[in-house]
Amino acid sequence: MIVVFGSLGVDLVTNVSHIPHPGETVLCEGYFMVPGGKGANQAVSAARAGSKTAIIGSRGNDGFADLALSVMREAGVDVAPVLPVDKPTCVALITVDEKAENAIVVASGANQATRAEQLEAFDLAEGDIVLLQREIRDSENFAAIKHAKSRGARIVFNVAPAGPLPEEILRLVDDLVVNEHEALVVAKAAGIEATDPVEATRVISERFGCAGIVTLGAEGVVGWSKGARHAAPALKVTPVDTTAAGDSFTGAYAAALDQGLGFEIALARGAASGSLACTRPGAQSSIPTKAEIDDALRQS
Ligand code: RIB
Repeated sequence: MIVVFGSLGVDLVTNVSHIPHPGETVLCEGYFMVPGGKGANQAVSAARAGSKTAIIGSRGNDGFADLALSVMREAGVDVAPVLPVDKPTCVALITVDEKAENAIVVASGANQATRAEQLEAFDLAEGDIVLLQREIRDSENFAAIKHAKSRGARIVFNVAPAGPLPEEILRLVDDLVVNEHEALVVAKAAGIEATDPVEATRVISERFGCAGIVTLGAEGVVGWSKGARHAAPALKVTPVDTTAAGDSFTGAYAAALDQGLGFEIALARGAASGSLACTRPGAQSSIPTKAEIDDALRQS
């Protein structure tokens, strides 16, 4: 089973000609609202990729809460461990430009109230995968990792958005998932002098004994495990919105591990899921199903 310990919320998305510079105002036609949050996106990805999935998190008592949970419910994610708290449901303000690149501001609200005790109250079994990101407090993530590890869970940590991790925590992580920027931030904080994200991820993997996975956008993904380099290509797609591509990768990657598939297959399934997510607008609205991943890999 996959247990996501992480964020959830609602994305307010605008499509703009270009992302505004400081002091600039950009007009656009309108906006759309979709469920988002890196934790929730990854939960949807894992569930759509065929794994039993639950999410532990927090929501407000406001009009956004139901929308934030709606797609997870449809995808079969167990949202019962999401607690109501006295803060607003998280809202992310997202602008997407004509090149499908985005800029995001996350108003965290309820996500900041998520506590490691919520995971401690959950009935974790040995071999479960606990999947984390960096949109809740570091202190709670770190306590959750220590608890999950003591219960025999596998820790998959997507260090997004980027931030430093203590070495003590890096040693507990089984699978570290980063993009190019995140790889360099984690490496630098750990005293690793690399300027190339793939090399930085190799050194992290070697030094801390985890699998190190770096997503490279259109170049696919490189994964380091036990000193060996593995790679999977991205699908050849025309991107319309790259939001949640990394989440789609991470959820499908974790699902493949949960289903007992090997590291290399997990990379390939994650890469296909991330690529497909770029072909549709929005976060959870863009995440593919297991059948879509299978089809895309058959045709590639
Ligand atoms: O990774 C994409 C997600 O980041 C969006 O859904 C938004 O909610 C932000 O948290």
